[in-house]
Amino acid sequence: MRLLPRCAATAVAALALLVGLPASSQTAPPAKEPAKEKYAPATPVCAGCHAQSHESIAMSHHGAKNDAGGSMCQACHGDASEHIKDPTTNKMVNKFVKAPAAEKSAVCLTCHTTNRHLAFWESGKHSKNDVACSDCHNIHGKAKAATVAPYTTTSRPLEADTCGTCHKQVRNAALKPSHHPIIEGKVKCSDCHNPHGAVTPAMLKHETVNQQCFSCHADKRGPFVFGHPPVEENCLTCHTPHGSSHEKLLTEKAPNLCQDCHVTGRHPTSFYGSGQGWNLPSGAPNSAVSSRFIARGCLNCHNSVHGSNAPTSRGKFLIR
Ligand code: HEC
Ligand code: HEC
Ligand code: HEC
Ligand code: HEC
Ligand code: HEC
Ligand code: HEC
Ligand code: HEC
Ligand code: HEC
Ligand code: HEC
Ligand code: HEC
Repeated sequence: MRLLPRCAATAVAALALLVGLPASSQTAPPAKEPAKEKYAPATPVCAGCHAQSHESIAMSHHGAKNDAGGSMCQACHGDASEHIKDPTTNKMVNKFVKAPAAEKSAVCLTCHTTNRHLAFWESGKHSKNDVACSDCHNIHGKAKAATVAPYTTTSRPLEADTCGTCHKQVRNAALKPSHHPIIEGKVKCSDCHNPHGAVTPAMLKHETVNQQCFSCHADKRGPFVFGHPPVEENCLTCHTPHGSSHEKLLTEKAPNLCQDCHVTGRHPTSFYGSGQGWNLPSGAPNSAVSSRFIARGCLNCHNSVHGSNAPTSRGKFLIR
């Protein structure tokens, strides 16, 4: 590896000689210094004693703005001028450990208040329930527990793991057999929610549940010649957003799902008609169980439950 640049340099020098150009770059305009400065700021005074704290942010946006006096360190931790003189008598209070949540967040908001993603921070559920910025943002990159993601090769903790430390029920749901690919790292909690607050229900990014779903499942938007009213009303009438034990994120399995609303029809839609269920009225097993209840149930025939554009009665009855 180390040989390669040297070979390249020699090659360039040789080439320069051949073409008759000066091999040294003395005549070239001076390289721009600020660019280097941005990625390798002066080591702050704090680093001498807090090497770990310095190194953990050195390569981040916060570290890039730091200087020899540790101005960024102090922007978050407060004035440290006395502390530097004699750190043992002039102890620093780490307010990110003991102070109330609002006070912790106020520190971050001194700089981040203009961020448009944070516009509804104050009215969001997190701020109102004493969740601070530093509960989610790991400023000094502390080592976290191993990730549950089975299909990722990076060591970066999944966002869902951070959220899951508090939202255990949601994490639980995301581990059920049918789930949005959250633990696989393909869909993030923040694809649907704004953790910084929003005025929508459950802090969704889009104005309604359906708009949120359409943002990825555009094929369900329609409009359809033959729509299915519950679909247009709210996807969550039949689906759960995070995970379910029933396939396709359904709240329950067909035919039960459909029977919640369809009890009578041109053909019987419930178990309760004579000879329609698993058992005959006599109690004996029914040798000709209705196709409405086996396998995919109603979906055996009504497979366009989200709406149909098929002509005539096939479309009208959501059969194709
Ligand atoms: C001469 C060494 C030294 C320097 C320089 C120094 N500190 Fe400290 N700092 C200490 C010691 C010692 C402690 C106490 C550690 C403890 O209690 O475990 C401390 C504690 C702290 C704490 C509290 C940590 C906690 O867990 O409560 C913060 C925050 C802190 N320093 C920030 C800074 C900042 C910011 C700077 C630079 C502006 C700085 N320090 C410079 C030695 C130093
Ligand atoms: C963007 C705000 C921010 C900046 C910039 C920042 N810190 Fe911190 N620091 C925190 C928060 C939040 C915590 C507590 C949570 C944690 O440990 O991650 C913390 C914890 C600490 C602690 C406690 C020890 C520990 O690791 O638990 C020390 C010491 C410390 N910081 C020193 C520094 C020094 C030195 C710098 C500059 C090189 C610095 N911090 C820059 C926010 C910041
Ligand atoms: C002194 C000003 C200042 C303070 C205080 C500050 N930040 Fe920042 N922060 C910045 C700047 C500048 C950037 C880089 C530009 C940007 O993304 O806005 C940044 C970027 C970030 C980013 C994006 C990082 C990335 O890699 O994209 C996060 C997250 C963040 N800050 C969180 C926090 C949190 C949490 C706190 C409080 C513990 C905090 N900041 C305090 C100035 C600050
Ligand atoms: C409930 C967890 C949570 C809390 C609390 C939180 N954040 Fe974030 N923040 C996130 C997540 C998740 C992302 C990354 C979003 C993404 O990947 O698109 C993020 C991204 C950011 C970014 C960079 C991207 C952007 O939107 O500009 C900044 C800056 C930031 N947060 C600042 C803050 C500040 C300041 C606070 C406190 C006032 C805060 N955050 C509170 C979860 C949180
Ligand atoms: C595909 C979009 C989507 C994803 C991804 C998603 N959510 Fe949700 N979430 C929703 C919707 C929609 C609701 C609204 C439920 C309602 O109105 O009953 C919701 C509700 C919630 C609620 C409040 C109600 C409840 O069920 O407790 C919490 C908390 C929540 N989500 C957290 C999370 C967390 C944490 C993650 C990541 C692990 C996540 N969500 C991922 C769409 C999503
Ligand atoms: C430190 C704990 C904590 C963490 C971490 C956390 N939350 Fe929350 N979250 C709460 C609390 C407390 C509430 C308010 C009580 C409730 O509704 O459950 C809340 C509420 C919510 C709500 C609104 C629920 C509703 O009914 O309106 C959503 C959505 C949400 N969180 C998503 C997230 C996402 C996404 C993440 C990760 C980026 C996250 N949370 C990380 C503690 C946390
Ligand atoms: C951020 C994009 C995104 C959003 C928003 C989204 N989904 Fe998904 N959805 C996906 C992905 C990705 C899959 C997995 C597709 C696959 O495995 O082929 C999926 C799969 C599904 C599945 C099939 C699950 C299975 O077990 O096969 C259903 C049902 C579903 N989503 C419903 C919804 C509903 C309802 C909403 C609104 C609350 C929603 N989705 C919002 C991305 C999204
Ligand atoms: C009346 C109940 C119902 C409503 C309301 C509903 N769905 Fe479904 N959805 C189902 C059923 C049943 C299946 C399984 C279909 C199958 O297995 O053939 C399904 C399957 C899906 C699938 C996975 C298979 C596919 O067709 O891509 C997605 C994605 C989906 N629904 C998204 C949505 C969205 C988005 C909404 C809201 C616009 C919605 N659903 C509203 C009943 C419903
Ligand atoms: C939340 C209630 C609800 C659920 C659950 C529901 N539907 Fe519907 N469905 C309706 C309503 C309302 C109509 C419109 C009835 C009308 O136009 O007379 C409808 C219409 C239909 C139609 C067309 C009937 C016609 O006369 O045009 C079919 C077929 C149908 N649903 C099948 C299903 C199937 C299959 C399921 C299960 C996957 C299901 N529905 C779940 C409420 C529901
Ligand atoms: C074997 C195929 C088949 C199965 C299985 C099936 N249907 Fe149907 N369904 C039809 C056909 C075909 C129609 C059109 C009406 C007609 O010609 O009688 C229809 C019509 C309907 C209608 C609208 C007509 C009316 O009566 O208002 C509803 C609602 C309906 N079915 C609900 C269901 C439900 C709920 C299930 C599951 C319990 C189900 N269907 C299972 C074939 C089926």
